[in-house]
Amino acid sequence: MTAQHKPRGDVAVLVPAAGAGVRLGPGPPKALRSLGEQPLLVHAVRRLCAARCVGCVVIAAPPSDVDAVRALVAPEVTAGVVVTVVAGGASRQESVARALAAVPVGFDVVLVHDAARALAPPSLVEAVAAAVRDGHDAVIPVLPVVDTVKVVDADGYVERTVDRSALRAVQTPQGFRRGLLAKAHAAAGADQATDDAGLVERLGVAVRCVPGSELAIKVTRPADLAIAQMLLHSEAPVRS
Ligand code: CTP
Ligand code: MG
Repeated sequence: MTAQHKPRGDVAVLVPAAGAGVRLGPGPPKALRSLGEQPLLVHAVRRLCAARCVGCVVIAAPPSDVDAVRALVAPEVTAGVVVTVVAGGASRQESVARALAAVPVGFDVVLVHDAARALAPPSLVEAVAAAVRDGHDAVIPVLPVVDTVKVVDADGYVERTVDRSALRAVQTPQGFRRGLLAKAHAAAGADQATDDAGLVERLGVAVRCVPGSELAIKVTRPADLAIAQMLLHSEAPVRS
């Protein structure tokens, strides 16, 4: 994997990476756990920085690991992109808000990307940013839902089966006009959503879907690490 230096792009990416990784089992914070020879966060940042549109990355790190994360994002990982590390918050939403507050002026397009989706390819980053530039103020990558989905009651009985043809599984990076993302976070306050587009939806703003990537799986449970390991071996080298 080569890390050539490139001209800076005009897109900023926020990377919430402050979660504990409880569902992954005991160990260091999830973003710092190894996938192959590197922490998940390093895989994620390397791929973000390989996207030509990206000029700035702000990582929300576990508060006790800010210095360790700064040491991880070495020049061979960042390829000339300016990377800032801030202390994350108690929730994903708070971590994103803290990272957003650290974006320098001049970046009008802001992407939010979970460190846990460590293998999201640079091409997905470019596609989301391009859709924002094309005039969509909020953009999410999605994949069709493959499982049958049912609503189940508190006693464990099926209430009904959902028509999955209109359902989509949502990934990151999600892309926004900076002003819209800031407004959505300010309006939400402590009221949590599981993704940033969810906050934008509450404002009544249209959210545009673009095709997601099978590489952009979220490492959540131990089996996901095994799948990510397999994907890591199968993917083409990341180019800048
Ligand atoms: N995240 C964050 N700050 C938090 C909680 C989560 O920045 N206080 C980040 C995680 O680091 C991750 C992303 O949000 O990159 C998505 O969260 P999730 O997959 O739930 O990760 P964890 O919260 O670490 O996992 P778990 O819920 O199993 O503890
Ligand atoms: Mg979590």
